[in-house]
Amino acid sequence: MAFLQRIGVISVVLFGALTFTHQVNAGDELNCTMCHKHRGLSRIDENGKFRLFYINQELFANSPHRRNRCSDCHTDIDRIPHKPAKKVDCTQECHLTEPSGKKKFSHKTIAKTLSDSAHGRYKWDGTLKPHQQDLPDCKDCHDQPLYRPLSFYKGESPGVSKRGISRCKSCHTIGDFAESFYEHITSRLHKSRTPREIVRVCAKCHGDEEIRERHELDDVVTSYKETFHAKMIELGSERTPDCLDCHVVYGENVHLIESSEVATSATYPNNLATTCRTAECHEKASPQLASFQTHVTYSREKYPMQFYMLLFFKGLLAVVMYFFLALIFLELLRRLFPCFCWNKEERCAARAHQALSHDTPEDKL
Ligand code: HEC
Ligand code: HEC
Ligand code: HEC
Ligand code: HEC
Ligand code: HEC
Ligand code: HEC
Repeated sequence: MAFLQRIGVISVVLFGALTFTHQVNAGDELNCTMCHKHRGLSRIDENGKFRLFYINQELFANSPHRRNRCSDCHTDIDRIPHKPAKKVDCTQECHLTEPSGKKKFSHKTIAKTLSDSAHGRYKWDGTLKPHQQDLPDCKDCHDQPLYRPLSFYKGESPGVSKRGISRCKSCHTIGDFAESFYEHITSRLHKSRTPREIVRVCAKCHGDEEIRERHELDDVVTSYKETFHAKMIELGSERTPDCLDCHVVYGENVHLIESSEVATSATYPNNLATTCRTAECHEKASPQLASFQTHVTYSREKYPMQFYMLLFFKGLLAVVMYFFLALIFLELLRRLFPCFCWNKEERCAARAHQALSHDTPEDKL
C-alpha cells in the first residue's frame, strides 16, 4: 500500500514537472529557449543598432501566441545552430487548428480585410499605390500583445471580475484549460490596447509630416488632439472615442478602415449619425450631432468658416490688446511727465498749478 502511495506521489510529482516544463516551453520543440532565455543574448548589428535576442518566457507565456511553437513563425529555422533568420510572415499557417472550422489557423482573413481597406496596397482601379513603404503592414501596428484581463485596468465589477474563472473551473477541472480560455475570451471583451496606445499607433504615420505630404493627407492627429474627446483620453478615459471608434463601422473588423468618400465607411456623411449613436456613445443624440467636425484645420479651401473665424478672432485680439496697451502707455507717460504739454505756456501754467496744489494746507495734514 505504502509502495503504491509512493508511486502515486512520484507520478504526481513527475506529472507536475512534465506539465510544468511543457508549460514553460510550450512553443519550443527545438529548445530555442536553451539559448534565448539568456538575458545577455544581444549584439550591435551592421547598422549600429542594438538587437536583443532574449525571449522573456514569462511574457511569452502570457501572450496569445503562447501555444505556437517558435518554429511556427520562424519557419526557416529547422536546425541548431541556426543561420540568420528571415522576416516572419504573419499570414502563414501555424500548427494550431481553429476549432470552429477545423482548419489550420492563419491570419490570412485579416490580410484580406486590410487589403480592402484604405490601407490596402492597390487603388480602386487595380494599380499599385505609390510609396508602398508607407502603407501599414501587420508589424507596423502590432507588437507581441499581452492578454489584458478585464479586472486589470478597470477595477473589478460584479460578474466580469477575474473571480469569474471559478465558474469555468467547476466543470473544466484539469490543467490550465480554464485559465487559458478565460483569458483568451475576456481579453477580447474590451479593447486590447488603451485608446492612448491606439492614437499612438495611428500617429506613427498620420503624425509624420513626410508621409502626409507624400499621400496628401491632413494633420488629423493634431486636429483630433484639440478636441474634447482626445483631451479626455489624455486624462485616462476609455469612454471617449479614439480613432477606431469613429473610423470602423460598429461591429465590423477593426482592420476595415475606409476613406470618408467610400459609401460603406463609418465616416461617409450619410453614415455619420449612426456612427455617433452607438450604444456606448451618444445613443439618443439627434442626427445634428454628426455635424461635429473632428479634424478641423484652418485651411481656407477646406474649412473657410473656421479660417475666417480664426482671422476675425486674431484681428479682434490684436485690436483689443493694442488699444489697451496704448492706453497704458499714455497713462504711464502722463505719470512720468505730469506737466508735459506741447504748448510751452500751458506747460508753465500746469507746473504752477501743481506747485500750488502741493502747498495747500489739506496736503500737509
Ligand atoms: C545554440 C543556441 C541557440 C538556439 C538553440 C537557438 N538560437 Fe536563435 N540565436 C542564437 C544566437 C547566438 C543568435 C544571435 C545571432 C546573431 O548574432 O545574429 C540568435 C538569433 C536568433 C534570431 C534573430 C536572428 C536574425 O538573424 O535576425 C531569431 C529569430 C532566432 N534566433 C530564433 C530562434 C528559434 C526560433 C530557435 C529555435 C527553433 C532558436 N533561435 C534557437 C542562438 C540560438
Ligand atoms: C507568432 C509568431 C512568433 C512566435 C510564436 C515566435 N516569434 Fe520570434 N519573432 C516573431 C516576429 C514577427 C519577430 C520580428 C522580426 C521579424 O519580423 O521577423 C520575431 C523576432 C524574434 C527574434 C529577433 C529579435 C530581433 O531583434 O531581431 C528572436 C530572437 C525571436 N523572435 C525568437 C523567438 C523564440 C525563441 C520563440 C519561441 C519561444 C519565438 N521567437 C516565437 C514572431 C514570432
Ligand atoms: C493600421 C494598423 C493595423 C494593421 C496594419 C494591422 N492591424 Fe491588427 N489590429 C489593429 C488594431 C488597432 C486592433 C484592435 C486592437 C484593440 O482592440 O485594442 C487590431 C486587432 C487585431 C487582432 C485581434 C486581436 C485581439 O486580441 O482582439 C488580430 C488577430 C490582428 N489585429 C492581426 C493583424 C494581422 C495579422 C495584420 C496583418 C495582416 C494586422 N493585424 C494588421 C491595427 C492594425
Ligand atoms: C457547466 C459546465 C461548464 C462551465 C461552467 C463552463 N464550461 Fe466550457 N464546456 C463545457 C462542456 C461540457 C464543453 C464541451 C461541450 C460543448 O462544446 O458544448 C465545453 C466546451 C468549452 C470550450 C470549447 C472546447 C473545444 O475545444 O471545443 C471552451 C473554450 C470552453 N468550454 C471554455 C469555457 C470557459 C472559458 C468557461 C468559463 C467562463 C467555461 N467553459 C465554463 C462545460 C462547461
Ligand atoms: C504605417 C503607416 C500607417 C499607419 C500605422 C496608419 N496609417 Fe492610415 N494611412 C496611411 C497611408 C500611407 C494612407 C494613404 C493611403 C493612400 O494613399 O491611399 C492612409 C490612409 C488612411 C485613411 C484614409 C485616408 C483617405 O483620405 O483616403 C484613414 C481614414 C486612415 N488611414 C486611418 C488610420 C487609422 C485610424 C490608423 C490607426 C489605427 C491608421 N490609419 C494607421 C498610413 C498609415
Ligand atoms: C469623433 C470621431 C473621430 C475621431 C475620434 C477621429 N476621426 Fe478621423 N475623421 C472623422 C470624420 C467624421 C472624418 C471625415 C470628415 C472630416 O474629414 O472631418 C474623418 C477623417 C479622417 C481622415 C481623412 C480621410 C478621410 O477619410 O476623409 C483621416 C486620415 C482620419 N480621419 C484619421 C484619424 C485618426 C488617425 C484619428 C485618431 C488620431 C482619428 N481620425 C480620429 C471622425 C473621427
